[in-house]
Amino acid sequence: MQTHQYDVVIVGAGGAGMRAALEASKDARTAVISKLYPTRSHTGAAQGGMAAALANVEDDNWEWHTFDTVKGGDYLVDQDAAEILAKEAIDSVLDLERMGLPFNRTPEGRIDQRRFGGHTREHGQAAVRRACYAADRTGHMILQTLYQNCVKQDVEFFNEFYVLDLLTDHDLTTEELDDDAEVNATGVVAYDLASGEIHVFQAKAIIFATGGAGKIFKTTSNAHTLTGDGMALAYRRGLPLEDMEFFQFHPTGLAGLGILLSEAARGEGGILRNADGERFMERYAPTIKDLAPRDIVARSMANEVREGRGAGPNKDYVLLDLTHLEPAHIDAKLPDITEFARTYLGIEPYTEPVPVYPTAHYAMGGVPTNVKGEVLRDSHNVVKGLYAAGEVACVSVHGSNRLGTNSLLDINVFGKRSGRSAAAYAKTVEQHLPIQENPTERVEAQLSEMRDRPDGERVAEVRKALQETMDANAQVFRTNESLQQAADDIRELQKRYRNVSVQDKGTLFNTDLLEAIELGFLLDIAEVTVLAALNRRESRGGHYREDFPDRDDTNYMLHTMAYRRPTSAPDAADGHVEGYFDHVEDFGDYKVVLGSKPVTQTRYEPMERKY
Ligand code: FUM
Repeated sequence: MQTHQYDVVIVGAGGAGMRAALEASKDARTAVISKLYPTRSHTGAAQGGMAAALANVEDDNWEWHTFDTVKGGDYLVDQDAAEILAKEAIDSVLDLERMGLPFNRTPEGRIDQRRFGGHTREHGQAAVRRACYAADRTGHMILQTLYQNCVKQDVEFFNEFYVLDLLTDHDLTTEELDDDAEVNATGVVAYDLASGEIHVFQAKAIIFATGGAGKIFKTTSNAHTLTGDGMALAYRRGLPLEDMEFFQFHPTGLAGLGILLSEAARGEGGILRNADGERFMERYAPTIKDLAPRDIVARSMANEVREGRGAGPNKDYVLLDLTHLEPAHIDAKLPDITEFARTYLGIEPYTEPVPVYPTAHYAMGGVPTNVKGEVLRDSHNVVKGLYAAGEVACVSVHGSNRLGTNSLLDINVFGKRSGRSAAAYAKTVEQHLPIQENPTERVEAQLSEMRDRPDGERVAEVRKALQETMDANAQVFRTNESLQQAADDIRELQKRYRNVSVQDKGTLFNTDLLEAIELGFLLDIAEVTVLAALNRRESRGGHYREDFPDRDDTNYMLHTMAYRRPTSAPDAADGHVEGYFDHVEDFGDYKVVLGSKPVTQTRYEPMERKY
C-alpha cells in the first residue's frame, strides 16, 4: 500500500474536476485522481454549447436564463442555485475564453451564440440565442482547455487510478448522529490499474467530480466509463442520493445506437418529422416547437412512435431533417454529428433525414450539495471536507429536467465554486485528520473476493440484463407495473452479482476486475433510481408516470433523499426523514430509506408548463 498526503484531492478529471483543480491549486496542494486519462473524460463528448446570457447576438439577460432553468426543471429546481448558475455563467464563459478556448465568433469578432431547447426571451416568448459554442465540439474544447491550463498550473494527476472507497471519521451507515455532530471526510482509497497496487490518499478536503451513470441503460449517449462510481461510493458510505428518479432522455440519439446527435442541429434549424413528414412538434409545443425542453420533445417523439407514426421498416424512430440547410452551414456548425450519421448509419444528412430516438443522457439527481459544493449528509447537515460538482452532484440547478447547455455551465460554475471552497477549507485545517485503522480493508476484501471466486456469473451478462430491464421498464414512459418489474429484476441481479467472477486473475491492467466492480456501482444506482421512481406518484420533468400523468405540487414539491442502511438500523436513519417519503424497502441485508428535502423557492411561483 502506498500513501499520499494532499490538501485537496479531486476525484475525476472531467470538466468539473479540472475546473475545481484550477481553482483549488491556486491556494492548496492539489491532486486529481482519474480512472481515465483526463482528455478522455466524458465532458469531451458534450457537443452543442454552454449557456450564458452574454446578449452578444440578441437581447438577453441572466434573469430570463434563471426563469428558463426553473421552468425547464418543472419547478423542482432550487431557485437560489439557479440564480447563481445564470449570473455566474457570464464570467465562466469569459474565464474559458481567457484560458484560450476557441469559441465560434460572430462576424464582428464576438463569441457567437446559438439557440437551444427551452432557452427563451422574455419568459417564453421565443427561442433565444444563448449557447456559446465551438462547432459541435464544445465539450471537447472545454476539456482540452482545462487540461492544458491544469498542466500549466502544475496540478498533479494520478491517471488510471480507480477510487474505490471514501474514508470518513464516522460510519454513517450505522452510527446515529445528533444534528450538531461533526462528520469529516479524511481520504480516499484508489486502485492503480497499471500495477494493481492500492493507494491511500489522505486529504484535508476531497471533491467528487466523477460524472454520471448513463450505463444503467442500454441505449445511452454515455461512454462505457459512466458507471456512477462517485454516487455509489457516497451512497454505500451512508450519504444520501437526491432526486435519483429524474433521468434525462436526450431526444436525438442515433436510432438503435443512442449516439448523441446534438440539439444544436435543431438550434441551427433542423426539424423533427414523423413518417408522414409532419413537423409534429407544432402540435406539442406550438410556440417553440422543436426547441422545447428535452423531456417534452423526448415524450412527443416516443408518443409519435406509439401512435403508429414512427418511420422506418419497424416504425420505431422519427426523423431529424437537415436537408433544407445549406451544406456549407452544416459543415461549419455541425461537422462531427453529421459525420456520425454517415459513419454509423450510412445516411447523408445533406440529402436524407437522420433516424433518431431518445437516448439516456443525464442524471439530474446525485450526491446532494449546497451552493458552495459541500456535500450534505442529510437534508441540511454537511460532511466537513467533502465536496461534489458536476453530474455526480445534485445542487439542484436542474430540478427534474435539465436544459441543454446548462451542464457544461454547471461543471464550470460549480466546479470553480467547489474548488474554491475546498481550498479555503483546507487552509483552516492545521493537520490532516487521522484516517481509520486498516483503511484499505474493505477494498482489499472486495477485490480478493471477486478475484478469488473460481467460477460464476459473467459480468457482461448481468450488466446486459440490467440495461435491458432499465430500457424496457424505466425509460421515457413509466408505470407502477413497469417500475416494479425493473425493481424485481434488479433484486435478482443483485443476487446474481454476488456470484460474479472474473476471468483475469492477474494484477496488471486488470480491466476485467474493474468492470466487475463498476457493475456493482451500476446495480446500486439503478436500484435507487427505480425505487425513487416508484415512490414518486406524479409526473414531473423527465419522470413521466402514465398512471399519475399530472404534476402534484401539493404532495410532491419535495426533493427525494434516498439512504442505504443496514436492515438493523432505525427507519428514520438520518434523523431527518421528513414528509411523505417515509418509505422503506427492506432487502434482508440492507434497506433503502426514502426521505425528503424541501425545494428552495425564491422568485418564481410554480405554474403550468407550456411552450
Ligand atoms: O445536445 C447537446 O449538444 C447536448 C448538450 C447538453 O447535454 O447540454
